[in-house]
Amino acid sequence: MPEFIPLISEDEIKARIREIGKRIAEDYKDRDLVLVGILKGSFIFLSDLTRQINIDHEIDLIGASSYAGTTSTGQINFTKQPDLELKGRDILLVEDIVDTGLTLQKIVEFVNLLNPRSVKICTLIDKRERREVVLDVAYSCFSLEKGFIVGYGLDYYEKYRNLPAIFDLKL
Ligand code: IMP
Ligand code: MG
Repeated sequence: MPEFIPLISEDEIKARIREIGKRIAEDYKDRDLVLVGILKGSFIFLSDLTRQINIDHEIDLIGASSYAGTTSTGQINFTKQPDLELKGRDILLVEDIVDTGLTLQKIVEFVNLLNPRSVKICTLIDKRERREVVLDVAYSCFSLEKGFIVGYGLDYYEKYRNLPAIFDLKL
C-alpha cells in the first residue's frame, strides 16, 4: 500500500498563495495579464491563485502532458491550445510543479511563437534536483529538493489530485 506523508498543509498553501497573488497583482498592475494554466495539474492552484489576484486579468489553459507514473518521458504532448489571442499580452504560465523543466521549456517556446509582450512562470512547487534546463521561475510558492508528491492537483497515474493538501508519496 502506498504511504502518504504530510508535507504542506492546506493552511500553508492558502497563506502562501495569498502572498504570491498579492505580489503578482502589484507587479502586473499596469499590464495586460493573462494567467495561462497548464493542464491538468495546475487546475486547483489556478483556481485559488486567480481569486488572490485583485486586478483585472483573463484566464486561459494549455494542455500538456509529459509524465508516465513518476518519470518524465522527456516528450510532451499538447492536448489543448490556448483560446485567447495572446499576441502583445503579458502571459503568466501557471504550473503545478517544475521538475526537469523540459515541459515548461517547450511551452515557453510555443507561447513565444504567439508573440506575447512577456512570458513568465508561476509554479506551486519548484523541484530542483532533476532540473535539466535553465528556467527563470519568476514566482514559486514552495521549493522541494526531491521526492514525488501528490495532492492539490498533483497526481500519480491520475489519482490523488483531490487530496486537499500536499503529501510525499512513498510507493
Ligand atoms: P518536467 O518536464 O520534468 O518539469 O515535468 C513537469 C510535470 O511533471 C509537472 O507538470 C507534473 O505534471 C509532473 N510532475 C513532476 N514532478 C511531480 C511530482 O512530484 N508529483 C506529481 N507530478 C509531478
Ligand atoms: Mg502530472
